[in-house]
Amino acid sequence: MDSAKASAPGNLFLTGEHAVVYGKPAIIAAVNKRAYCTSFKSKGNTISVISREFGIAKAKIKENNIVNHEGKNELFVFFDLVEMLMHKHDIRDGLEIRIESDVPVESGLSSSTATLSAALYSLNLLFDLRIKKENFFDYLYPLQVKIHGGKASGSEIFSSSIGGYNKIQKIDCEGKTKINSKELGKHSFSIVIGNTKVRAPTALTVGMHVPSLMRRFPNMVEKEFEKIESICEKIEKALEAEDIYRIGKLINKNQKILSKLGLSHPKIDDCINEALHAGALGAKLSGGGWGGVMFALAKRGEEEKIAKAIESTGAEAIITTIGGEGVKACD
Ligand code: MEV
Repeated sequence: MDSAKASAPGNLFLTGEHAVVYGKPAIIAAVNKRAYCTSFKSKGNTISVISREFGIAKAKIKENNIVNHEGKNELFVFFDLVEMLMHKHDIRDGLEIRIESDVPVESGLSSSTATLSAALYSLNLLFDLRIKKENFFDYLYPLQVKIHGGKASGSEIFSSSIGGYNKIQKIDCEGKTKINSKELGKHSFSIVIGNTKVRAPTALTVGMHVPSLMRRFPNMVEKEFEKIESICEKIEKALEAEDIYRIGKLINKNQKILSKLGLSHPKIDDCINEALHAGALGAKLSGGGWGGVMFALAKRGEEEKIAKAIESTGAEAIITTIGGEGVKACD
């Protein structure tokens, strides 16, 4: 095989972002927006990464390492991925990696995790590495930590690789970070995502803002994370009962806590207020915060009205469902 293509979904947090980095549970669902990656073997010792969204980066293979990185540094993480595979699986070939993502970048919908998962799957196919999706976490977690500014839960890796709705908890297993997960079944809720288009690099909130709050106000942050934990348990039950009214109320509560922790953004608040005014059952930000996306839970038939309300703020609205398939091969 000389080339292989794969795709992986972005994600939405129904609840638990940030708290999940500190060992609390979260509920995350794959979104029906995907990133695509095609990997080609090439002659010579060059690794090229070509991204529709970011541009181009190139590097050289030297013995067992990748050196002389040039081009867009947002793409250097793919060299880290290839280098890791070179070390673990003795790969030596030159490569061209082509990426395109329908998941908006730096929006809180896990575009970087979706592209990395798609890249790992396409390289897995190309070199017949037989890495199971369940083990993607071990490969991608160190890269996620780097992208998120030194800390990460890894929940997005789990969701992008496995798909569906999952309850996730990060655990420490003999000094190694692992994920405890519970599959939460299939649900076909109507979701309207509002993309504020305010770019929100997760490293700023995960790597800087929340740690600074924890240093200055440890008791307050712990209390708010405990409240999020309790919301998570309640959303799990409401999901079992398919009680969208209760889920709506609970995600509103979660949003208030994220706001109190300084993680919202005026444009996110604007979208949330308009969505709730237009009849959304609940609305919250998703992901790192400080911009990016929010989502609203809509009654069936009310999606268009809520989308228009979100668009009235200048944001882009996406009507969708969540809980789709994880990483997979493409034809
Ligand atoms: C970022 O999209 C989600 C966070 O919870 C970070 C993480 O889980 O690694 C803020």
